[in-house]
Formats: sequence, C-alpha cells, structure tokens
Amino acid sequence: MIPLQIKNDQGQPVSGNPANGQQDFVVCSACHSIQPGQNMVGPSLHGVINRHAGTAPNFHYSSANKSSGLVWTEQELYTYLENPQKVVPGTYMTYIGMKDPQQRADVIAYLQQAAG
Ligand code: HEC
Repeated sequence: MIPLQIKNDQGQPVSGNPANGQQDFVVCSACHSIQPGQNMVGPSLHGVINRHAGTAPNFHYSSANKSSGLVWTEQELYTYLENPQKVVPGTYMTYIGMKDPQQRADVIAYLQQAAG
C-alpha cells in the first residue's frame, strides 16, 4: 500500500495498492495506454497525475474536457473516476465509472507508480 494525496468522504487518508491497481486498470486499458504519446480511443495516461485536463499531445478532446479547468490531482481523479459524466458533463469518456473506492485508490496508486 502506498499513501495517496486523497481523503475519503469521511475525511480519512486513503492508500492504494498498485499491484491490485494494475489488475483493475484492465478495464481502462481498453481505451487508454500508459505509454507516453500512445493515444487510443482515450488519451495516453502517461504522467496524468497533476496534469491539466485536455493536454495530452495530439489527442482530440471534447470541448467539455478541454474547458473543464480541472487538474488531475489524485483527489480529483478519485472523484472523477467514480462518475466521469457527472464531473465532466459531455465528456467523450463513455465509461460508467469505478464505484468501489478502494479500486479507484488502487488504480491511482498504479498510475502514480507506473505512469509517472
Ligand atoms: C470506453 C473507453 C474508455 C474507458 C473504458 C476509460 N476511458 Fe478514460 N477517457 C476516454 C476518452 C475518450 C477520454 C477523453 C475524454 C474527452 O475528451 O472528453 C478519456 C479521458 C480520461 C481522462 C482525462 C485525461 C485528460 O488528459 O484530460 C482520465 C484521467 C481517464 N480517462 C482515466 C481513465 C481511467 C483511469 C479509466 C479506467 C478506470 C478509464 N479512463 C476508462 C475513454 C475511456
């Protein structure tokens, strides 16, 4: 488990298990790579943590994402991945969301370790 810059709904600090996160990332990898510059249906998630929304090079984003003004902090990802359409209405990301909070934390821990 590695500590994350995330507080849960109860205000408790959240940790994530990157090995579990790698397994959970399988659903994301239908549309995302963590290799730099490798855009698929979705943009490369290389270096996504603390990246401004809509800034992966050469990816054609929705205006909803591009103009969201979000920065993908660990906390923001934790909220976003639960329900992407709620956080960014009109997003091209047609993914229902990852409802289990621990799974979200694990995926974020994986992104921090493997896609940094
Ligand atoms: C069905 C395909 C699909 C799946 C599955 C999917 N995404 Fe996405 N994702 C996209 C698309 C397309 C975008 C671009 C959204 C836009 O431009 O509105 C995106 C955008 C994002 C962004 C914003 C990136 C940026 O540069 O602003 C993040 C972060 C993200 N996805 C993470 C994930 C994670 C983590 C998972 C798995 C839990 C996941 N996505 C599952 C298609 C998908």
